[in-house]
Amino acid sequence: MDCGLGHSSKKSIRNRFQMAVMKGILVMVQVMACVGLQSEYYQTSCPNVQTIVRDAVRVAFQSDNTVAAALLRLHFHDCFVRGCDGSVLIDSSGRIKAEKDGPPNLSLHAFFVIDNAKAKLESACPATVSCADILALTARDAIILAGGPDWEVPLGRKDGKVSRAKDTTALPAPTFNISQLLQSFSQRGLSAHDLVALAGGHTLGFSHCSSFRNRIHNFSNTQEVDPSLHPTFAETLRKACPVGNTQKNAGALLDSTATRFDNQYYKNVVAGKGLFSSDAALYTDGGTKQLAHQYAASRLLFYRDFVKSMVKMSSIPGQGSEEVRLNCRKFN
Ligand code: HEM
Repeated sequence: MDCGLGHSSKKSIRNRFQMAVMKGILVMVQVMACVGLQSEYYQTSCPNVQTIVRDAVRVAFQSDNTVAAALLRLHFHDCFVRGCDGSVLIDSSGRIKAEKDGPPNLSLHAFFVIDNAKAKLESACPATVSCADILALTARDAIILAGGPDWEVPLGRKDGKVSRAKDTTALPAPTFNISQLLQSFSQRGLSAHDLVALAGGHTLGFSHCSSFRNRIHNFSNTQEVDPSLHPTFAETLRKACPVGNTQKNAGALLDSTATRFDNQYYKNVVAGKGLFSSDAALYTDGGTKQLAHQYAASRLLFYRDFVKSMVKMSSIPGQGSEEVRLNCRKFN
């Protein structure tokens, strides 16, 4: 069965998709059926799973709204390394370094939200809800709280038994150009269309200087600053992250409305105010550029496509996922 439903270039599939979008939820059912996930997976085994997770996210968000960005990124980093299997949640033990301690993951946070949801779920329905599913649900709930779209989350993932820091080198880097980004996404069954839609996750959150330093100091032999950066934006970034900066928490917001899930990210990219080289890269390729323009012009189009691509990303099968962990930080 062809699971590349999201934004396939095949005409027949695209037509099928367009019809399905018109009919609302049908498309989600198709994608979920592809990998055996279904939104009612816990209907009898843990009927309150959605409420329990939503409450844990809400409580955390009310005291710190930056958890929304953190939860979305956690799910992305989980799915891009060994599939969506909760491997990002495992704590390192002794000399064995888990994904969490891989360089791109050192700035992940809000793990406590997953722990809190899991503790409540273990009381309500022991050994039933996987940590990988909790990650998928918290990402969706975080987006709703940040003002973004709602959707049915396919459920039924199992947790993986492997988590290695070295595997995190497979995550896309902020210095990636468009071909590297396309390759990274296609290796996971995600199209150029998915790349542009999912990059909209950068409508939320914050980045440390190290992730965009390449653009603002010593950019090339002849240019100090990346010429594709808007000049005043570049100046702001250079002030926030001067050469030799030693402040650990220095950095910049990913978007000028970084706590709201909107389409401002694309407006920024179009204006040369995308933060990373990888954000600006979307504007260097004919196809992705056109789509970035369309999302900048229509928040609703972005929402529609983002939801489709999230369902696709969050259905990347875990490699050797086989258990429901009792504690998301440890294998059983
Ligand atoms: C396209 C390739 C991508 C690259 C190269 C990339 C890279 C990065 C980097 C370097 C950071 C900042 C880390 C730091 O310095 O603290 C970041 C943050 C973030 N990313 Fe991405 N990312 C990508 C795709 C995505 C996707 C697909 C999503 C979600 C759908 C996402 C969601 C986020 C969020 C929400 C943050 C902010 C996290 C926070 O504030 O805690 N990213 N990303």
